[in-house]
Amino acid sequence: MNEVYSKLLKCFDQIRKKTDFVPSVALVLGSGLGSFGELIDVKCTVDYSELDNFPVSTVTGHNGRFLFGYIKNTPVVCMQGRVHYYEGYKMTDVVLPIRLMGMLGAKKIILTNAAGGINKTFKPGTLMAITDHISSFVPSALIGQNVDELGVRFPDMTNVYSKKLTALLKRTAEKLDIPLREGVYIQFTGPAYETPAEINMARILGADAVGMSTAVEAMAARHMGIEVCAVSCISNMAAGLNKKPLTHEEVKETADMVAEQFQKLIYNVIADIETEEKTDSQTEITGDRVEIYTDGACKGNPGPGGYGIVIVSGDKETKISKGFFNTTNNRMELLAAITALETVGAFKNITLYSDSKYLIDGMTKGWAKNWKSNNWIKADRKKALNTDLWDRMLYLEQKHTIEYVWVKGHNGHEYNEICDRLAVEAAENPTAEDVVEG
Ligand code: HPA
Repeated sequence: MNEVYSKLLKCFDQIRKKTDFVPSVALVLGSGLGSFGELIDVKCTVDYSELDNFPVSTVTGHNGRFLFGYIKNTPVVCMQGRVHYYEGYKMTDVVLPIRLMGMLGAKKIILTNAAGGINKTFKPGTLMAITDHISSFVPSALIGQNVDELGVRFPDMTNVYSKKLTALLKRTAEKLDIPLREGVYIQFTGPAYETPAEINMARILGADAVGMSTAVEAMAARHMGIEVCAVSCISNMAAGLNKKPLTHEEVKETADMVAEQFQKLIYNVIADIETEEKTDSQTEITGDRVEIYTDGACKGNPGPGGYGIVIVSGDKETKISKGFFNTTNNRMELLAAITALETVGAFKNITLYSDSKYLIDGMTKGWAKNWKSNNWIKADRKKALNTDLWDRMLYLEQKHTIEYVWVKGHNGHEYNEICDRLAVEAAENPTAEDVVEG
């Protein structure tokens, strides 16, 4: 039998002798989330040292055990401590715990880490949702005989980080008022921190944050079909962006500083993950195109703010969603557009109708893209506050083909009839998903 798989089976059997707990979500705790275990209603723990040939961390500050238990109603397995490639383990050993958690039942995984900030707009303490990764000179954990029991020889890596889970992460952060950026993570082997020239290279390659752990873990999880979500805590600015030399102490200190927020975010994501599964905020859409209407584009909208979504297929129109926001301003207009775009999942052909010149001009005139150098946003403090939302719009724009249409608010636009209907129904019949706090 495949050597990697037989090692996995042995660990699997040893755990199953101790517990029959079946987790649905796996969680890997990076620096700063060390005390997250206290939030779990723990049913069983398994020390890594109890498992034959299991890789054990050699870094101080990393405990080594699995916690099995519940976060609200979600059954989780949580890794307190992980091993890194730089500790000298084979890459197949580095990802063994990830694969093991998948074999124990986890269908989703949340990876967390501390990382250096490459994106100059980040600060130590920034939280970043990982949207994609680059592995730089890091050997793939999938090299060697394929473990056919886990996945295919040539797995697709187009969507390593689940859009659905990342959307949940972002909605949760928004709800909790926790700032969350997003970006590309680059993995180097470590253990030395990078040189300024390497960080410069990484930025040119498109990376926003740098670390030594997560890309390989995400890849192993995707190989076996686990849905992945990952968050970096920017613990320091990467080499060359700061005069101070980098130290592990600084990494730990910053991670500890934001630990409370980070924990709250992850806790709430996991608590909601099963419900989200049932309500399914993203819908598989088949049709010719999708029309999205925000706020005033819905003539006579009875509530302040909101959006409507219509799938057009031939001459058939199907409403799939509607929403309300409890205040109306440009920020809400952006949030309505974002929520609607996230709802339509991967569907590409979209027309977005809005009465907000701010939204339409921001997206069509390149102002949002260049907000860092554009006085239009910089000059206005309130607009500057929306940069996180512009970043999200720009991110979503990469996923869809969006045509933007400005319509005069409440002026009898030909599509407004549909929107009116949606808005009236939403007002009469609001559901929990319709109400988004603004
Ligand atoms: N580089 C690599 N890994 C890291 C860093 C860094 O600057 N900070 C935390 N983990």
